[in-house]
Amino acid sequence: MNVFGTTTVLGVFGHPVSHSLSPLLHNAAIRALKIDYIYVPFHVLPCDLPGAISGVRALQIAGVNLTIPHKERVIELLDEVGEHAARIQSVNTVINRDGWLCGESTDGPGFMRSAEAEWGSLRGARVLLLGAGGAAKAVAYALAESGCEVTVANRTPERAEALVNGLNTVLGRQAVRSVAMTSENLSAEIGNADLLVNTTSVGMSPELESIPIDPELLHKGLLVYDLVYSPPRTRLMAEAEARGAKAVNGIGMLVHQGAISFQMWTGLEPPIMVMQEAALAAIQ
Ligand code: ATR
Repeated sequence: MNVFGTTTVLGVFGHPVSHSLSPLLHNAAIRALKIDYIYVPFHVLPCDLPGAISGVRALQIAGVNLTIPHKERVIELLDEVGEHAARIQSVNTVINRDGWLCGESTDGPGFMRSAEAEWGSLRGARVLLLGAGGAAKAVAYALAESGCEVTVANRTPERAEALVNGLNTVLGRQAVRSVAMTSENLSAEIGNADLLVNTTSVGMSPELESIPIDPELLHKGLLVYDLVYSPPRTRLMAEAEARGAKAVNGIGMLVHQGAISFQMWTGLEPPIMVMQEAALAAIQ
């Protein structure tokens, strides 16, 4: 890539950051659109986050993504936080508008766009969501806002309850509920569900044989969205497809959350296919 005195800098702050596929996705988009930008990974320790955010202003970096463990802690360092990000208390995208730093979250919208691109509207869908971490919060909120009925189940039930209470408070209604992860509960919930979403890390390389739910519970007619993308076909996806269900991995969410950030920074239509191919090539 060519870098000039005029080149606009974008980047990602993380700890660790070496695993991030975002530089690949964004630089592929930058090359495809032939624009004078570059996207750089920055290894930022938690104690250095305030300094790194000052650096965004000082170095006139046009925008950054935040990944683990900075998505929550960055909020107090910004000038403004979008409504959606404020509600889930998570920022993955910072936009630098002449030194005024605005935080947004594109994780939930990225999930919705990729799921609806795959399957059409999910309004009214009954969803069983596994996990209660940061990804679960963004996805559960986006699903509830889109008119889905969301049930959350997690290995540690207290985390699921805390997530559900927090979301219902910001949504101002009982939009989301939690159930304990017993086989009876899961069997009842999944039997009624249109969509199963795995936001846990179960099934991620190298734990290829791990699966977050008894495969016998998977059934035809179920849509399965596994946020895991490495391996690209998890055991959960394979078991679901073997029973006639439709399944996708997390590459779509990764690509779409990046594409929404890219559009926020550049104002340009992101080349989704180019970004998707870059992600696939890296994973395979
Ligand atoms: P993220 O921010 O990416 O969502 P996280 O906050 O570490 O990551 O959350 C990981 C999720 O995977 C949690 O829901 C976690 O369950 P706990 O809350 O009980 O820890 C879930 N998870 C991780 N390993 C798991 C395992 N072996 N079995 C079941 N759930 C697991």
